[in-house]
Amino acid sequence: MDKFIINGGRKIFGEVTISGSKNAVLPIMAATIIEPGIYTIKNVPILRDTVTMARLLEIIGAKITFSDNQLIIDSNNCNNPIAPYDLVKTMRASFYVLGPLLSRFNEATVSLPGGCAWGPRPVDFHLKALKEMGAKVNLDYGNIVITGSLKGSNIKFKKISVGATGNIIMAAVKADGITVIENASVEPEIINLVDFLNNIGADIKVFKDKNRYVVAGVDKLNCLSEYEVIPDRIEAGTYMIAVALIGGKITINNIIPNHLQIVIDKMLDAGVMINVADQSLTIESSQPIKPVNITTSEYPGFPTDLQAQWMVLMTLAKGESKITENIYKDRFTHIAELKRFGCIIRLEENCAFITGVDKLKSAPVMSTDIRASASLVIAALKAKGESEVSRIYHLDRGYENIVDKFGQLGANIKRVK
Ligand code: UD1
Repeated sequence: MDKFIINGGRKIFGEVTISGSKNAVLPIMAATIIEPGIYTIKNVPILRDTVTMARLLEIIGAKITFSDNQLIIDSNNCNNPIAPYDLVKTMRASFYVLGPLLSRFNEATVSLPGGCAWGPRPVDFHLKALKEMGAKVNLDYGNIVITGSLKGSNIKFKKISVGATGNIIMAAVKADGITVIENASVEPEIINLVDFLNNIGADIKVFKDKNRYVVAGVDKLNCLSEYEVIPDRIEAGTYMIAVALIGGKITINNIIPNHLQIVIDKMLDAGVMINVADQSLTIESSQPIKPVNITTSEYPGFPTDLQAQWMVLMTLAKGESKITENIYKDRFTHIAELKRFGCIIRLEENCAFITGVDKLKSAPVMSTDIRASASLVIAALKAKGESEVSRIYHLDRGYENIVDKFGQLGANIKRVK
């Protein structure tokens, strides 16, 4: 298994370019199933997750050409409405094919995703909404078997869910009638999916302030489309936090600053210097780092996908800070590993209390999920001496060229077998 060997303690300087958003492109890829056609998608990050989704689409019957961050998906001959367990268990976002398959074939068999490293991640909202749209749902040998032609309906999620919102929007674009989706996610990645769908002829109205979508079913979408995915705000946020922690000054290119507003605000509170331009920002570390509390919540709140990285930053703040995790109450597997660097963190239910220390100490650590891994990498880049981060296949799911990107900034990180 590959691991990173990191020689920490070097400040970082220079420029880094952010890749396309993983969480935006995955549902967009799934959406190409809905209408037979050939789709060209640009700014696609080459990651384990995008490759897994491409593999899944191939199993469904699509032809895929994936090179140079461009993806061509020919969905004309899709004929197998099945998402098997071996793919769904490696990537929960495989569940995104459910809505599109049902829309195209009036049937779908999708393996029920299990738990994940940070606790239960149910799919009940997806299934309840599809039932409300007229589908029949059965469980057979660990698979959800779902059939029926979909009708417009009024859906109100009990809690905001990114995945359920995306799935139901995709299920609704060709449903019979109007679907109103309330208490829906307005994360930039879902807005990107909606924009893609509207570009190919869907009729989706967005009421961002009300967390509502109104989807009027259409008979046909335009099959041909060229579309560019938004930049990955979580990757950008990770580099922002990295430089604040490690020290130095970097410019982060290819970003949409609006998508990062809460992160920018929190970093300013922490005393970091940030200069925001149109599609980039320059960020310079400064001492001391001030303790800043965060609470994760739905967009535009602080993203849970940056919680682990923020925690590392706070381990070197002067004083105590508190992180409240409101999306995934158990998403704290990184704490045990961070303690190996000498961090002082106390967990009480869904709140972590971090007491700043003077320095981080190098250590061998183990990745547990994508974002937790990122937090370990930046901690290791700060800690003087050699650290080893193992199980980095988690990182490969979500960070394109992380070794090259940090390497170009002057960090000493290499990948070994
Ligand atoms: C997506 C992101 C993930 C991010 C998360 C929250 C992708 C591929 N993944 O995951 O990186 O951390 O949003 O921003 O985009 N819930 C239910 N029942 C459901 C669905 C969700 O109870 O049927 C709960 C979850 O347990 C969680 C909350 O709703 O507490 C939000 O989860 P959700 O937004 O659905 O996360 P994902 O779409 O899986």
